[in-house]
Amino acid sequence: MADAVVHPAPRRYALVSGANRGIGFEICRQLALKGMVVILAATDEKRGIEARERLQELDNVVFHQLDVANVLVLLLLLNS
Ligand SMILES: NC(=O)c1ccc[n+]([C@@H]2O[C@H](COP(=O)([O-])OP(=O)(O)OC[C@H]3O[C@@H](n4cnc5c(N)ncnc54)[C@H](OP(=O)(O)O)[C@@H]3O)[C@@H](O)[C@H]2O)c1
Repeated sequence: MADAVVHPAPRRYALVSGANRGIGFEICRQLALKGMVVILAATDEKRGIEARERLQELDNVVFHQLDVANVLVLLLLLNS
């Protein structure tokens, strides 16, 4: 009999805008601690990278520049 194919549990993803400070930043931290892959998004690249560095102990957080007023970038992110 063929070996059973084991599918790993699918990873869950979160996209958090306005995440370089305040509520957005804390949401990123808490979702990442729960094991989700978190896209920490911020309008300003420098501030976003600095926020990502404040969560350096978590390896499941990535930074992406995003202004929610830019609908095109938002749609591309959600479909990737
Ligand atoms: N309902 C409630 O009880 C309650 C309580 C607290 C807060 N709130 C609301 O929750 C929101 C967040 O609060 P907060 O204290 O975390 O505010 P905050 O510290 O001022 O942070 C706001 C975040 O939104 C980002 N942002 C602004 N315009 C943006 C845009 N066009 N695209 C993407 N990101 C943008 C800011 O980025 P930059 O740093 O680049 O400006 C910043 O990261 C606010 O709207 C606040 O009014 C509601």
